[in-house]
Amino acid sequence: ELDGFAHYMLKEIYEQPETIRNAMRGRLNRDSATAVFGGLNLTAQQLRTIDRIVLTACGTSWHAGLVGEYMLEAFARLPVEVEYASELRYRNPPLSSNTLLFAITQSGETIDTLAAMREVMRKGHPVLSICNVVGSTIARESDGGVYLHAGPEIGVASTKAFTSQCVVLALLALYFGRLHHLSYEAGLRVIDELEALPDQVEQALETNSDIRRIAGKYSRCNNFLYLGRQYNFPAALEGALKLKEISYIHAEGYPAAEMKHGPIALVDENTPSVFVVPRGGVYEKVLANMEEIKARGGPVIAIVNRGDEEAAEIADDVVHVPVVADFLQPIVTSIPLQLLAYHIAVLRGCDVDKPRNLAKSVTVE
Ligand code: F6R
Repeated sequence: ELDGFAHYMLKEIYEQPETIRNAMRGRLNRDSATAVFGGLNLTAQQLRTIDRIVLTACGTSWHAGLVGEYMLEAFARLPVEVEYASELRYRNPPLSSNTLLFAITQSGETIDTLAAMREVMRKGHPVLSICNVVGSTIARESDGGVYLHAGPEIGVASTKAFTSQCVVLALLALYFGRLHHLSYEAGLRVIDELEALPDQVEQALETNSDIRRIAGKYSRCNNFLYLGRQYNFPAALEGALKLKEISYIHAEGYPAAEMKHGPIALVDENTPSVFVVPRGGVYEKVLANMEEIKARGGPVIAIVNRGDEEAAEIADDVVHVPVVADFLQPIVTSIPLQLLAYHIAVLRGCDVDKPRNLAKSVTVE
């Protein structure tokens, strides 16, 4: 079953070009420059009246929700909030009548996500799910939804489900965008970018040997910072969570510019900062953040675009990923971050597929 891979986590990391293809299969329509879904169970007229979207989830799925928030805001100009399910279920927030909830969950069994969803449904709001496990409780109880089709995820640390959740959220952002102001041409451009993604993820997997070397250099550090901005801020959070979960190293993710408001006090020569810094709108700003860390003696590992020499000059170690549209960056940059956590955990002798104290699906509160 491991197909020659040492662990399920590594196998699942390598499946991502294919699982991403599966998440898009049959869902892109060039004629109308939009995404199509079989199971939303709501008409275009009903979905058009939605004026606010709430995304709820836990853990890694919550990080995908943050990526989705940026995508939906950019493409559809809809107000979006991302809520931890454990908070939403007890919070009783005021929801306007045209609010739609998405529950994002790999397993479809996470109790907090289920409870948050039931609470919002009870108030009469439509609830859709973004699930991997077919026929799971959340998939069955929601009004409709979108399956990831990523296949079983066995490693406790979520990898392929995360990237598929981001892809499905991109499809939904395209769909809602095209219900509102996104033009035909802009829709086609998004489709082109999505269709190119599986090959780009394949290229991102080629960072594996560089990552293994970098892992060897830093595997004995006990604290890491992960920093990124805009679309790459959730990627930083997710990178930090992966490292925590499977290698038991303390890691924190932050929006890169927040670091001077406190976390920079942690920086010393034994605290590496992993910068997620592909080119884009805030690129120069992140480089400035990188210089600040270097000036305080902190080692810098940078995930950069191919051909980027500017960042490479500042960083101690660089990993190159292909150039993609900004909304797809967190998908491509999370590949080396998954591999970094994996190799560090292996070097530290950790049980990668079954980390201590964790369960694949959290069915207790
Ligand atoms: C992290 C991880 C957890 C899950 C979280 C939600 O690698 O696996 O943080 O993402 O427990 O699980 P699902 O998506 O099944 O609701």
